This record gives sequence, structure tokens and C-alpha cells, in this order.
Amino acid sequence: MNKNDAIARRDLKHVWHPCTQMQDHERLPIVPIQSGQGVWLQDFEGKRYLDAVSSWWVNLFGHANPRINNAVKKQLDTLEHVILAGFTHEPIVELSERLVTLAPPGLTRCFYGDNGSAATEIALKMSLHFWRNTGKPEKTRFICLENGYHGETLGSLSVTDIPLFSATYAPLLKEHFRAPSPDCSKRDEGESWEAYSRRQFDAMEKLLEQHHGEVCAVILEPLVQGAAGMKMYHPVYLTLLREACGRYGVHLIADEIAVGFGRTGTMFACEQAGITPDFLCLSKGLTAGYLPMSVVMTTETVYEAFYGSYESLKGFLHSHSYTGNALAASAALASLDIFASDNILEKNRELARTMADALAPLASHPHVLEVRQTGMIAAVELVQDKKTRAAFDWRERRGLQIFEHALAKGVLLRPIGNVVYFIPPYVITPDEIRLMIGVATEAIDRIVHVPAHATPHANEKPVVLP
Ligand SMILES: Cc1ncc(COP(=O)(O)O)c(C=O)c1O
Repeated sequence: MNKNDAIARRDLKHVWHPCTQMQDHERLPIVPIQSGQGVWLQDFEGKRYLDAVSSWWVNLFGHANPRINNAVKKQLDTLEHVILAGFTHEPIVELSERLVTLAPPGLTRCFYGDNGSAATEIALKMSLHFWRNTGKPEKTRFICLENGYHGETLGSLSVTDIPLFSATYAPLLKEHFRAPSPDCSKRDEGESWEAYSRRQFDAMEKLLEQHHGEVCAVILEPLVQGAAGMKMYHPVYLTLLREACGRYGVHLIADEIAVGFGRTGTMFACEQAGITPDFLCLSKGLTAGYLPMSVVMTTETVYEAFYGSYESLKGFLHSHSYTGNALAASAALASLDIFASDNILEKNRELARTMADALAPLASHPHVLEVRQTGMIAAVELVQDKKTRAAFDWRERRGLQIFEHALAKGVLLRPIGNVVYFIPPYVITPDEIRLMIGVATEAIDRIVHVPAHATPHANEKPVVLP
């Protein structure tokens, strides 16, 4: 038995993997990774895989990046962690200062958590608590978007609209309002992204008009709804929403956990609409994929509503043991150094163009509904029938077959349903982009021609592969 098999066998005895139907691994070997270097992951037998999904959208500057490694090692010998209540440390102070200078203007306060779901929970709680502290306790509900994803803890799942994740746990969740998605893949033929996003905003405006008295905030993913299959929309939707939230006295929570830190072409997606949300949730790329950390940035107005004597009971109530971890903060600082010194946003524009060029031929593929891209996020949506837009039956598991084909060719893709997407680390080279998209194209070509009845396990429930 080789080392890969030995580790995989030990793994399956005790490790319960996330977002996975474990039974699939009776047929599909789990992939043990020994090391990572740049965009490449390597298993114990020396086979390499190009990490086209940045290990669940977290990695920015490659695996084992020497600059981030050194920063974390240095911090490790100084201070690994300290309680953030009553104590502080230099990396977290510096990180907060630098985030405030980078974020949209007016976001001057940083509250830390240790994962993305925690950040959205914090923003939801902070918004509700703000209204309570300012004499509006009747505001207890939220507006979220159809197709939105904000995490899988109970509060964040309550504002998530992906039935696969939320339906089973519905009895534990609170009901909120849902506005139609501005997802531009649904626009009419010949309609522009901007026109469609404006049109979709009408329903949001109506919801705000009707319910603003009981609504704390609108929460959404700016520009790209990631877990729904990289559904994209025009920044005008955010501009209209910012204006309406101000008019109706409702907060705006921008969940940039997936899209922050340059993914959409600007440091933060909100910049493309020229807006400042009341809460900005960041995680994933915050530490360049090194360590779990999240932050909710907010305004002085929000901060001040919680400021008062202990007896006033105004204080914000939320704490995680690992809040503001010093190692994570040192990784985040090293990542921000790389952004500053290496002109990353500018270089990414070139890489994004290379992705667009490599993807262009797929647009005319008979089973491709659409190729879409926002900055360094690109996606190819497959359909059974291009004319009627009929999707492939989920039981056919085309995405899983593409995953398997690409893996055999040394590329880690994880299609979401029938959407093949690319969110590579920013250290990817043009040749690696062409390789990644070449393998995906080959996989798509091969898989769409497999007759449905020939697909394995067609009657089982789907394994989710975001
Ligand atoms: C937009 C968005 N919000 C929240 C989350 C949840 O983050 P985490 O998985 O760290 O809890 C994710 C994760 O994919 C996300 O994409």
C-alpha cells in the first residue's frame, strides 16, 4: 500500500469531512496532501494538483508563501495568542489601523471573530443591538437575497437562501425577508447587466418600503453570490441599495467574506459602487488563507451606540476564545504588505484578462449557458439545453464528474452543481491559467457528452461540491 492509500485509510476511520457525503469515498479516494508550494498542492506520491479554488477561496499568495511563513514564524517566537478582553497586542492594533485605511471611508471600528460565519453572526447581532440601544427594539428582522450565502451557523444560515444548506435545519432557523436575486444570468436576451440589476432592485425597494419599521438590516454578498454558483450582478444594485437603506433607516451589511481582498478586481467589491456599508464582514483572504480569522468593520455611529456605563447594559455581547489571534494577525499583516509592495491589484488585471481570453471559446459551446467573470472570479454555467436553458438533472452529478476528470489531470476544480468556477491564488502564472482552463474545457467537453444513464450513482442524493 502506498503512503497516499495508507493515510486515506486512516483518515476515513475517524475524520468526518465537511460538505461531503462520506459514502462517496467508498468509490472516490480522498486526496492526502503532503505539501503546498505556490498554486500547487502535492500528495505523498509526488502527484501535483493546481489549486484552482484557492482551497475554498481563502488562499491569496500561494501555499507556503515565504514572506507570510516568515512573518508567522517570527510572531510564533514572540506571542502566539493572548486574551483580547482587557489585553491587546501590536499585530492586532496595526492590522486594525491598516484595515481602516484600506476599507471604504467611515469604517473605523474593527470587531474580530475567527471564521466567516462568526462575522455575519456578529454583524446581525450588532445591527439588532444597535436599534435596541437607540430606542427601536421593534426592529428584529433582516432582508437577505435569494441565492445568498452567509455561513452555516444558525444565525447566518437564517439569512442564507440555499435550500440544500438551510432546508434540513429550518426548524432551528428564524424567518426573514428574501428579495429576488439580481443574478444577471437571468437577464433577458439583449438586456444589459445594469438594466437587469436595476429592474431587480424594484422588489427590494418594495420590501424596504413595506417592512423598514421592523427591519434591522439588509445583508448581501456584493457583486458575486459565491456559493449559489458565482452568480454575478452590476454594482448599480449596491448603489441603489445604499441610498434606499439610508432613506428607510435600515443598515446595510456587506458580506465580503468571499469577495474581499481583491477578488472582484478592487480591494473591496463595495468600492465599485462607491459605497460604504454600515457593516463590512471580512474573512477568508484576510489572512491570505493561513489561519482562521474574521473581522466586522463598522462606523463610529454604531460604535457610539454601544458606549456607556456598565450598568446601562448597552455593551456588545459576543466573544470567541481565539478573537484577534496574534499569529493570524501577523499573517494578515504580511498579506497586506504583499498587496502594497507588489502592485497586486494592477497585476491581477492582467491575469484576469488572461482568464477571459482562455475562457472565451467556451461561450459558444452548445452546453454552456454563460461564461461570466468579475475580476479574478470566473465561472462557466453548463446547461442541458442552451435554447430552453434547461439545467442538467442534479442526479447526473456532472459537476462531480468534472471534479474527478480534472483531478486525474492535476487540477483541483470543485464545480457547484453545474457551474465550473475558477478562483485561483494571485500567484498563478498565465501558463498555469491556460493549463487550468484547458483541463476544465476538456472535462466539460467530455462530461456533457456522457449519456445521463451512464453516470454512476444517478439515484443517490447529491454530494455538495462548492
Ligand atoms: C459570502 C460568505 N459568507 C460567509 C461564509 C462563511 O464563512 P466560513 O466558512 O468561514 O464560516 C462564506 C463561506 O464560504 C461565504 O462565501
